[in-house]
Amino acid sequence: MYRTHTCGELRASHAGQTVTLAGWVNRRRDHGGVAFFDLRDRNGIVQVTLNPDLPQAILDVVSDVRFEWVLQIEGVVQERPAGMSNPKMATGEIEVVAKNVTVLNPSKTPPFMVNTDNDLPDEHMRLKYRYIDLRRERLTNNMILRHKVVKFMRDYLDKQGFIEIETPIMFKATPEGARDYLVPSRVYPGQFYALPQSPQQLKQLLMVAGMDKYFQIARCFRDEDLRGDRQPEFTQLDLEMSFVHRDDVLDLVEGLFTEMIPAVAPHKKLYSSPWPKFSYKEVLERFGSDKPDLRFGMELIDVTEILAKSEFKVFQSALEAGGVIKCLVAPKSAEMSRKELDALTEVAKSFGAKGMPYLAVTGEGVKGSAAKFFKEEELTALKEKSGAGIGDLIVFSSDARAVVNKTLGGLRLWFRDKLDLADKTMMAFAWVVDFPFFAFNEETQTWESEHHPFTMPKLEDLPKFETNPGEVLSDAYDMVCNGYETASGSIRIHRRDIQMKMFQMLGLSEEDIQAKFGHMLEAFEYGAPPHGGMAPGIDRLIMLLADEPNIREVIAFPKNQNGRDVMADAPSEVEAKQLKELKIKFE
Ligand code: AMO
Repeated sequence: MYRTHTCGELRASHAGQTVTLAGWVNRRRDHGGVAFFDLRDRNGIVQVTLNPDLPQAILDVVSDVRFEWVLQIEGVVQERPAGMSNPKMATGEIEVVAKNVTVLNPSKTPPFMVNTDNDLPDEHMRLKYRYIDLRRERLTNNMILRHKVVKFMRDYLDKQGFIEIETPIMFKATPEGARDYLVPSRVYPGQFYALPQSPQQLKQLLMVAGMDKYFQIARCFRDEDLRGDRQPEFTQLDLEMSFVHRDDVLDLVEGLFTEMIPAVAPHKKLYSSPWPKFSYKEVLERFGSDKPDLRFGMELIDVTEILAKSEFKVFQSALEAGGVIKCLVAPKSAEMSRKELDALTEVAKSFGAKGMPYLAVTGEGVKGSAAKFFKEEELTALKEKSGAGIGDLIVFSSDARAVVNKTLGGLRLWFRDKLDLADKTMMAFAWVVDFPFFAFNEETQTWESEHHPFTMPKLEDLPKFETNPGEVLSDAYDMVCNGYETASGSIRIHRRDIQMKMFQMLGLSEEDIQAKFGHMLEAFEYGAPPHGGMAPGIDRLIMLLADEPNIREVIAFPKNQNGRDVMADAPSEVEAKQLKELKIKFE
């Protein structure tokens, strides 16, 4: 038997027991002839005391032991003397006084320490030696949290009558807006499987198959530009339901997360229950983003009417071009230095603004780049509408509505981070509904589906398909949390005629439609039930629950920012023989 207990479970109630433990040396201290090892396993850390009266053979072993060696310790649990307990450790009331030490495996000096998060090594090193980095308590806890979340999801959905069904990884292109990862076929040279960007089509086909309520902890693959919240492969809680309307799906998912948060992360609180529901249009107007962070205020304020007649040329020309004037009030920021304001103006420009007029409200009146252009009554009305008081900074954007919203939405988050406005213990879930059905791609001058091409348009908007596609709304929805899109979904098209119309609007030829989606259209002719679903991103959710800055910290073996696995060094070249079998030659 390697062990009788795990390192993390021993308490004062175990005092007097002889135990056997196995684990890694997290820390070693030597003090007046006595050695102390902190022994670590996944469950926690316990202090082992090695007295100088141990047999010489054991003392010889002890003197060799270094960080990260794997040991087996036999010893007696003892309460620590009064005043010596360590309230920071779960096992801090006791220590294990060793009787025997066996080295199960020594370790080379690790490339970095895992017993502290201070001075983290660079990410390349952490990913190269991921199996060591994962020993770090923080990362171990992230893995445990991830397990708890997925288990909660499975149990909850099981109780709600869902069944978990696996779908193929080698499939055909399932467009979700990214590039596909392709797998060449040896048996059919020149032909490829595509890894699913999501199980979207398969889960719809499961509805046609009568599976009624499906879910899957589904791996998705997307060849797209990576960011902190994006990996080339990631995991969704993918689900789909038959005979449902939008709110049936939202209620199910809201119920799941509302019960889950206190169960898996009791230190987090929900912003509100029930969750707020906004239209896409409303969140853009109020927060300048379709994934608003609701943990703080600073909403966008439309001041077009108040300032329509001001003498400020910048505003005038924006209005003449059909634009709007909006502002944000940043608390306690009137004293920002010229240099900081210049830097902020650059931030505004990165969102498409031409500049960033501002007013600082001070005890001696209003100051700032635009102050001299405004009449007293305009300033009074502005302060009244915006609620700005002494010490606040008002920043403006005047341009086309979309540019204004995007700019102020970006600045709002900049101030959130600078002024630490968001409560870190809060999970501010909300729904965003009524998305536009189409998005116009300025580059290609074509209409694209805003969600994915299987999303149902609002039936009352169908006549606008030909006349005014930009105004067609869809039955799509997003779940957002703390400024991230954490899930999206929709009610689906289940009629062949509407699906055909959608593909045609997207500019697909009859041939293309058949080749890419023939199987879907055919399935819709064999009794497809009305259905809908959604897919929360599990990595993003865990990232928020664990207060991590990116999803790599909550994935056991993530790719780096450039899509490489630096531990195994993948992607890598393959043998010439393999390429020959696949009939692949490089250009
Ligand atoms: P969508 O493409 O919006 O919808 O994805 C759903 C959720 O998955 C997460 N997500 C990602 N997480 C990490 N890395 C990525 N590269 C990544 N891309 C997406 C996000 C996102 O909200 N089939 C539809 C869902 C449906 O309609 O049911 C879909 O995949 O949290």
